[in-house]
Amino acid sequence: SPNLTTCHATSSQNADTPHRSSHELNCCPASPDSGEPIIKDFQAPTPSSASPVRVRRPAHNVARDKEYLAKYNKAVAIMKRFPPDHPHSWHRQSQIHCIYCNGAYNQASADGAADVPFMVHGSWLFFPFHRFYVYFHERTLGKLIGDDTFALPYWNYDSPDGMPIPDIYMKGELHDEKRATRHLPPAPVAIDYTPDKLDDTGYVEPPAAEQAAINLALLYQHMVSGASKPELFMGCKLRPGEGGACFGPGTVEAAPHNSVHLWVGNTELPEYEDMGTIYAAARDPVFYAHHANLDRLWALWRRLHGYRGSRPEFDDPQWLDSHFYFYDENADLVRVRVRDAIDMDRLGYAYEEVDLPWLDARP
Ligand code: C2O
Repeated sequence: SPNLTTCHATSSQNADTPHRSSHELNCCPASPDSGEPIIKDFQAPTPSSASPVRVRRPAHNVARDKEYLAKYNKAVAIMKRFPPDHPHSWHRQSQIHCIYCNGAYNQASADGAADVPFMVHGSWLFFPFHRFYVYFHERTLGKLIGDDTFALPYWNYDSPDGMPIPDIYMKGELHDEKRATRHLPPAPVAIDYTPDKLDDTGYVEPPAAEQAAINLALLYQHMVSGASKPELFMGCKLRPGEGGACFGPGTVEAAPHNSVHLWVGNTELPEYEDMGTIYAAARDPVFYAHHANLDRLWALWRRLHGYRGSRPEFDDPQWLDSHFYFYDENADLVRVRVRDAIDMDRLGYAYEEVDLPWLDARP
């Protein structure tokens, strides 16, 4: 778990997305003027008519829902107008990623001596951390427009129709200029995209239908055949006191997660901003749709491999009691534990079901 009092400058370099360059950065919040922050323990929302389920839909299917798009754009516009230091500002929402994924906190340790950075990538903290990141972002957007049914869309790139960057992210508040121009719609995402393709200037994307088939086969491998055990899917079992020695992304974290980040980011920029580098990725609104889909893939993996309800992948207190801190929709600081993330059904949101063509894409 992170020690909140240790936020410090860090480097944009990270193990999973190698860059041509890196720089020093400071993504810490402005220090609070008065004493210890008040921290609440996470409470799952109680299902009632007062807190209906939020249904996340495929982003390419909401393009015609004008009312929904107006709400989503309005909520993002409000976030962008908050003073940068406010926990609900677009700026602070995106800095969460830099803090937890570039290692701005040190780990908390029983004896108070650890100076090992706390980082969630490449480990079994990856899925639980990002589940809560998207969860609080979504609830905050909803709160800002007074809609407690508001749900983020998911980037359904595991289905051929959903493979390009969704059109709704190409305009208005959801647009981001810092993306690879040759990867704009209608180009289908390349889930097999790797840094060597990125460096090979002669690399030519295969025709769309071929790329779609490659994507589905790789999803089958990373969700089914190559991910039969939680050790393979969830990533390295990071223990307190361990740093980069335990860096090992699970199948889906490697691809589509890393590959889609690198594919979207602008390769002309030094660190493939925005999406291609951790410190800047969450500045691009499509980040949240990408991570909603990864969160959905986690839920689907659990279903496919027999993890029902609150049955955890690992019955290990060092994992289950690891925690993170987020500001909730009321701007209260909340401590969430990995164990709070396991049972998605308790969190008040759901994914609209769609066909899973990759299930039949056994190579
Ligand atoms: Cu913390 Cu897509 O990454």
